[in-house]
Order: sequence, then C-alpha cells, then structure tokens
Amino acid sequence: MSGMNFFRSRDLETIQDFYMEELGMELWLDQDKCKIVKDGNLLLGFCESETMDEGGTITLFYRTKEEVDEMYEKFKDRARGEPSENDFFQIYQFFAEDPEGRTLEFQTFLHKLEPYLEGIELLKNRRSVREYKDEDISEKTLQKIFETCRFAPTSKNSQSYYFIPMRDREVIEFMADRRGRNSQPIAEAPMAVAICSDPEKTGRPKQDGDIASYHFMLTAWSHGLGTCWIAAMDRKDVKEKMGVPQDHYVATVTPLGYPKEVPEPPSRKGAEEFVKRIDT
Ligand SMILES: Cc1cc2nc3c(=O)[nH]c(=O)nc-3n(C[C@H](O)[C@H](O)[C@H](O)COP(=O)(O)O)c2cc1C
Repeated sequence: MSGMNFFRSRDLETIQDFYMEELGMELWLDQDKCKIVKDGNLLLGFCESETMDEGGTITLFYRTKEEVDEMYEKFKDRARGEPSENDFFQIYQFFAEDPEGRTLEFQTFLHKLEPYLEGIELLKNRRSVREYKDEDISEKTLQKIFETCRFAPTSKNSQSYYFIPMRDREVIEFMADRRGRNSQPIAEAPMAVAICSDPEKTGRPKQDGDIASYHFMLTAWSHGLGTCWIAAMDRKDVKEKMGVPQDHYVATVTPLGYPKEVPEPPSRKGAEEFVKRIDT
C-alpha cells in the first residue's frame, strides 16, 4: 500500500511555494486545484478551499542531528523553540509552523529504524562506507536482509548465489589484508559478508554474483547499514579460507556495519554523459 495526506488550504500558491521552494519538496502531481508534493517517502496534498485543515502534525525526519540543526538554522523564524532531545520518544526535534499555521516537526530518531527509504532516494543516497561504528549487527537484522536478497534476478532463475557472513576477527583481518589499502575497509567493520555464486547452477556465475552483491548492498543501506565493494577477492587464498570450491565465483567480500558517518557524495557525471544515442 502507498498513500498520502491531504490538507485544505486557503492560500494554495503560498503553501506550494513554501513546501517546494523553501522545504525543497518536488511537485509529484499537479491536479490544478490540488498540488501533491513529495520528498523521500512523504507525500502531501494541498487543495484549494474556503476552509483550512490545520490540525495534526506534519513530521519531517532526517538521518542525523546535524541535518535537524541545519533545518533549524534555515527555519529559525518559524520555529517554536530550539532543537532538543525528547528522552521518552528517543528523538531530537524542534517544532515550527508552515505559512498557514500547521505544525511542522523536524526530527531525527536516536534509535534504529526499520527500512523506510523509497526506491529513488535509496538508489541516489547509497554510499560506499569505509569507517564503521563499533556496534554489532543483530542476527535478526541480518536475516531480514537475506530475506530481501532472495529476490535478486539470476540467469534462467538459477538462484546460484550465496552469502557467507563472517564475524571471526581472525578471518576478517585475513580478508582485510589481501589487497592492501583497497581491502582495508573490511578491518574497520564488525563483520564481513562474501557474496559468491556456484557455476554448477548457472552459465553466468559472474553476473548472478555481481547483481546479488548490489542487491545486498542496497538492502543493507535501507537498514541503515554500510557496505563497500572490495574488488578482486575472487582469489585462491580467499576461497581456501572460506572453504569455498576453487571454481566458485567470489563477487566481493564487503565490510558490513553501521556507518561512523555518511560519506559526502563523490562527484557524478551528468545523465547525458552516460547515454550514447544511436537513433538517427
Ligand atoms: C567493481 C567495483 C570495485 C570496487 N573496488 C573497491 C575496492 O577494492 N576498495 C574500495 O575501498 N572501494 C571499492 N569500490 C568502491 C568505489 O570506490 C565507489 O563505489 C566509488 O568511489 C563511488 O562511491 P559511492 O559508492 O559512495 O557512490 C569499488 C566499486 C566497484 C563498483
């Protein structure tokens, strides 16, 4: 199921301007008398009306306290007070008002969350993480990730890939030492996961293993966990250590953990630069 909230507005133009220009939401659907704006998983509809809905609270949540502070700096004039921690709900928040007086809450949760990232946001915001918090990943979270990873596409639906979770420090250090600086991120995480595929089950072990790896990385990210593709781990010594047959393909051995911080996005080319048009 998907959904949205609608609010009646007496001044649709000002409201659209505020939510789009100031808050940075996008126009998702223009129904003329109603404007539906979107950011992340939040969809809000505002409809022209003689009367107005002002009840309830529109809560916008962010990944970090720093982001809430940034929003406070931006919306100080509208704020009802400074950001503070709410121990009962384990959140960091401040309240403000939109131009028609609706209550806006800007917050971050100070505890872990179940996945909430919507597809495009997930694809755009995933980062390679090389530094991690010293914090274990529960077996329950790991199971949820593997459950989602069942849905990776494979050649002829061979389902030839498999995962090897590793928590043993000696094994992790071994993996981290294989490729010098390139594989060091493995040593920074509380655990590592190898993603492999079995050539007896598929004619395309590389494609199956590589796609499953990316599926794993995106799923981990949606659970707030970082990963980093470590290349060239399809090696004799790595397979020996894991007890994997030499003809199996090791797509990657990725570190897995809660990011110490979310790295700044690296530069990206514009979309047109990735497209080679051959139509005449
Ligand atoms: C095939 C492949 C191999 C990579 N190998 C390594 C590696 O050996 N070590 C490492 O730290 N990062 C490695 N990376 C991560 C890239 O450096 C990273 O994806 C790139 O800088 C873009 O950053 P982003 O993932 O945060 O968007 C690899 C990524 C890919 C797709």
